[in-house]
Amino acid sequence: MDRKQISALIDRAVEASKRAYAPYSHFHVGAALMLSDGEIVPGCNVENASYGLTNCAERTAMFAAIARGRTDFAAMVIYVEVEQHIFPCGACRQVLFELAPDIPVFMTNKHKKTIETTPRKLLPNAFDSKNLPK
Ligand code: THU
Repeated sequence: MDRKQISALIDRAVEASKRAYAPYSHFHVGAALMLSDGEIVPGCNVENASYGLTNCAERTAMFAAIARGRTDFAAMVIYVEVEQHIFPCGACRQVLFELAPDIPVFMTNKHKKTIETTPRKLLPNAFDSKNLPK
């Protein structure tokens, strides 16, 4: 990933955050998932009056890519227009680990400053398919 690709991914995550459906938290999260050919799949959080049904931006992007038949994940940007860097919640860490354990994930703040990590680093000793009986 060069800086230009990361910057394009950030722009798409910013756009996606503007489409967040967040009438309860007013916390607008955008995600942008890059695939191996450079295609970008956006995601935003989608809340519900039954709060627990909320889907985070990261999972929206991952699930949208899967629905398109794509699993060739290359990188993800997560963006919120706030000072601090927002890291994925526990549920999203588990989903990211399942589908793309080693992709670079860039948490991005309102100044477009990034912190880079991976789902594997975010979820040490992760529960995965290897833990299930054959
Ligand atoms: N949220 C995300 O979409 N991604 C995160 O990484 C953290 C939290 C959403 C869920 C909910 O709609 C709102 O932010 C407040 O928790």
